[in-house]
Amino acid sequence: MSTGTTGADRATIPARTLRTDRWWWPPLVTFAGLSAWVLYANVRVFMQQWYWVDDYHYLTPFYSPCISEGCVPEAAHFGRILPDWPILPYAMASLPFLLLFRLTCYYYRKAYYRAFWLSPPACAVAEPHKTYTGETRFPLVLQNAHRYAFYAAIVISLINTYDAILAFHSPEGFGFGLGNVILVGNVVLLWAYTASCHSCRHIIGGRLKHFSAHPLRYRSWSVVSQLNTRHMELAWITLGTLALTDFYVMAVSAGWIDDLRFIN
Ligand code: FES
Repeated sequence: MSTGTTGADRATIPARTLRTDRWWWPPLVTFAGLSAWVLYANVRVFMQQWYWVDDYHYLTPFYSPCISEGCVPEAAHFGRILPDWPILPYAMASLPFLLLFRLTCYYYRKAYYRAFWLSPPACAVAEPHKTYTGETRFPLVLQNAHRYAFYAAIVISLINTYDAILAFHSPEGFGFGLGNVILVGNVVLLWAYTASCHSCRHIIGGRLKHFSAHPLRYRSWSVVSQLNTRHMELAWITLGTLALTDFYVMAVSAGWIDDLRFIN
């Protein structure tokens, strides 16, 4: 069997791959998982109801910050400045940046390059595309904007944290229920995902000649580096917690279930 190379230095073997394992399974699972999540998120974002629980001040992260004239006033912690149009998500100020943050994430790039563009679908499996230009040209050159999306994600995580704190509420004043556990858990994991970002690691520990001269940055970099080894897991876990948090708020808001209350 010939194993020569083309002009692009690619192996020219007749078979698409010589791998005999189930190499197609991870991209297939990734494709199914990401597609299901995107479908759910789109349905919820454009539903424009069941995003707020008035008794307990639960606000789903998919509608935060709620800045549309369609938002109930109590949920609009930062004002209602956008017109109430069906095509305009209530959280229009955050969703594009969150999308950019995830789309340009180093892990998600690997995930969707493999699962959606098959470029390549797995190691040592030929891709259908004839040429490869990497991320040096439009539109993929925009992937390099990831560090700026990271800064936006920090702001949005702060807003989600604020929402989670405001949710310790009940008609009697202070309150605490299962919804709080879910909201706080979601925020903690969002922070873990954000802090585990490769750009974050570089911002904290990059461009230093001597760690010994920067002990605080070294310690922070060590923590972030630990988290960074779990970046893929956190990417998936936070997709799960975001959907779970949203679904729980929707279920309580719609009256399908009662919130399990521990205090008030
Ligand atoms: S690399 Fe994944 S969020 Fe930055």
